[in-house]
Amino acid sequence: MTAAPEPEIAGELAEALRTARRVVVLTGAGASAESGIPTFRDALTGLWERYDPAQLATPEAFAADPDLVWGWYVWRRSLVARCRPNPGHGAIARLQREVGERGGGAMVVTQNVDDLHERAGAQDVIHLHGAIAQSRCADCGEKVREDGAEPAGGDGHAERAQGGGAAQGGGAPRDGGAEGRRIPPPRCAGCGGPVRPAIVWFGEALPQVAWRRAEEGAANADVLLSVGTSSTVYPAAELPHIARRAGARVVQVNPSSTGLEPAVHDDLRGPAGTVLPALVAAAFGP
Ligand code: OAD
Repeated sequence: MTAAPEPEIAGELAEALRTARRVVVLTGAGASAESGIPTFRDALTGLWERYDPAQLATPEAFAADPDLVWGWYVWRRSLVARCRPNPGHGAIARLQREVGERGGGAMVVTQNVDDLHERAGAQDVIHLHGAIAQSRCADCGEKVREDGAEPAGGDGHAERAQGGGAAQGGGAPRDGGAEGRRIPPPRCAGCGGPVRPAIVWFGEALPQVAWRRAEEGAANADVLLSVGTSSTVYPAAELPHIARRAGARVVQVNPSSTGLEPAVHDDLRGPAGTVLPALVAAAFGP
């Protein structure tokens, strides 16, 4: 891969970011692509190009073939554990710090189930689609602790899907699974039900508290950055539109075109790992 050219950041965009009091950074799979985690919809490399989400990412799929689904998530979980944050994650964490030091706030809202924002130093990351390192019982909903299928006190869907520590929940093998290996899910110590990843599958509702916070953040943002998302999965894809309607400046960071363009003020074409550090450096200095 050849190095991406240094992106041009307009002085006036840098100034808008520097003076913004409320910033929202919405990220998708592209933000973690340079860390080695495949996106979902990129041609050839996207997970949904190689796998059928109907067989792996729905509650019905888990009910029909729990070993297949659990084995796939064990593989993905081990992949995430081996990956490291890239300079894009670092730039987002720095942006959050810089805005905070100036008396404002930058909210990181991610559709990603990895914990690379946290590992890069971002605080209070809102996980709209849950966290792959966490597990819960598919029947009773209890959270499962790192050391096995033991209930740790259920406290609502929103809380369950938040966070994103690096814990290997659900008693998954620590060496991870090989891609495509079938692994029976652990059993819940409380009710005996099968343990599933604590992520949002197709057809499931987003964690309510996380969604409400994200929606409110977007409605109050001065600047919203949409980073590495195809903007096709709702309701997350609605956030830039909410921000735009409320008067925010909407900035997209993506090497490719997306359907969001009509709502975008600044379309920064390039990989997050190059564009974001340049953008943050233009706003706050090297
Ligand atoms: P997609 O795979 O749909 O889109 C990834 C986007 O990242 C595309 O627009 C790419 O052009 C862009 N991209 C690729 N490499 C990039 C890079 N280095 N820097 C910046 N952008 C890059 O992923 P999402 O939009 O995140 O749901 O998909 C949304 C949801 O669909 C996911 O959260 C997942 C999936 O089904 C769940 O897991 C619940």
